[in-house]
Amino acid sequence: MKSTASFRAHKVVEACQEIAGFSDNPAYLVRTYLSPATRRVHDFLRSWMDRLGMRPSIDAVGNLRGLYPGKRQNAGRLLIGSHIDTVPNAGAFDGVLGVIMGLALIEGLEADRLDYDIEIVAFSEEEGVRFGVPFIGSRALIGDIDAPLLQLTDPRGVSVAQAMESFGLNLSELHAALLNPATFAFLEFHIEQGPVLDQLNAPLGIVEAIAGQSRYELTFHGKANHAGTTPMSLRHDALTGAAEWIGAVEQQARITNGLVATVGRLEVTPGATNVIPSEVRLSLDLRHTDDATRHAAADDMEANGRQIASTRGLQLSLQKKLDQPAIPLDRGLRDSLAAAVAATGRDGHRMNSGAGHDAMVLARKLPSAMLFLRSPAGISHHPDETVLVEDVQAALDAGLYFLKHLNPPPTVQKNL
Ligand code: GLV
Ligand code: MN
Ligand code: MN
Repeated sequence: MKSTASFRAHKVVEACQEIAGFSDNPAYLVRTYLSPATRRVHDFLRSWMDRLGMRPSIDAVGNLRGLYPGKRQNAGRLLIGSHIDTVPNAGAFDGVLGVIMGLALIEGLEADRLDYDIEIVAFSEEEGVRFGVPFIGSRALIGDIDAPLLQLTDPRGVSVAQAMESFGLNLSELHAALLNPATFAFLEFHIEQGPVLDQLNAPLGIVEAIAGQSRYELTFHGKANHAGTTPMSLRHDALTGAAEWIGAVEQQARITNGLVATVGRLEVTPGATNVIPSEVRLSLDLRHTDDATRHAAADDMEANGRQIASTRGLQLSLQKKLDQPAIPLDRGLRDSLAAAVAATGRDGHRMNSGAGHDAMVLARKLPSAMLFLRSPAGISHHPDETVLVEDVQAALDAGLYFLKHLNPPPTVQKNL
């Protein structure tokens, strides 16, 4: 028979798998910001929160939030959570696991209610898939939703503000989405999404810092013409220009220590076999733990793109969509997490995160910490992404220890 604890780890995995069934596309998992499937995830989480007596509600940007009150008034509030949107053709654990872990930990407290409150948050948007800009959910909690963000449009021409309105959200309530001033820390559980823990055969990782990231949208403009009649020397082919640039971007990332660069989306116009491409729109995602290195690389890539465009008689336009600085997580919380992992008999490896996370936004206002769970074979952003039940067990044990030994500041700091 499974022990209560191992039953709970299985339940965490099964809940993530069940939520993976809530998709915008029947053929694979994709759940973008405020899509219809988001509502089904809300319903699932809401009924779990109801069972725990948490009075869930949805804030102005579509984050689902529930409060589990502590034993003492004014003992402060710990925020635990992660995101519920996904990339296209996603796995079942990226994001959702961090929300379910929070609920499972509250269940795990059983009669041992803590002094402080725990708020669970399911961030509505972290991946940046629908509007090209990530972290809409967590940005609302730190008061960073601005007019340019609300005006961004998705590929169908729907703006962020319109998407919110059609989901039934009320932008005039944005102020109520802000972090409650009693909140003293943020904790996020997440799969590692890389191979480090797997290679070390370690179940858990304590995140020291999260790499900064830049995202750009670029367009190479050329001239369409007939594929059969236009001599090679007279072409202004936007796609061959873009291809040359993409190769150069890869080369630069290969020779710059720690830099990763990805062109993940390409739209070719007019997109016909027998027409020279007149326009190519593409995305660039650039990451490094050192912001100066990332900025220098972005400048070089832009200059190189302009050079390639001018040599080929093309134009290049470029829009910066994100410049998210690298951020260290809170030293005291990192040490407490490491102590919790050790006290519960597991190996915890201290490491940086190459992936972006809601914690990097919250960390701008709040002491924040992240616990990684090993990603078998380092696979993520892929349907084969998974997690081991025994690692979930290890994270639950460490998480419970951490919660029980966490000392909120005596007078809860005003964070905003
Ligand atoms: C989020 O998964 C990111 O790092 O892009
Ligand atoms: Mn992701
Ligand atoms: Mn994630």
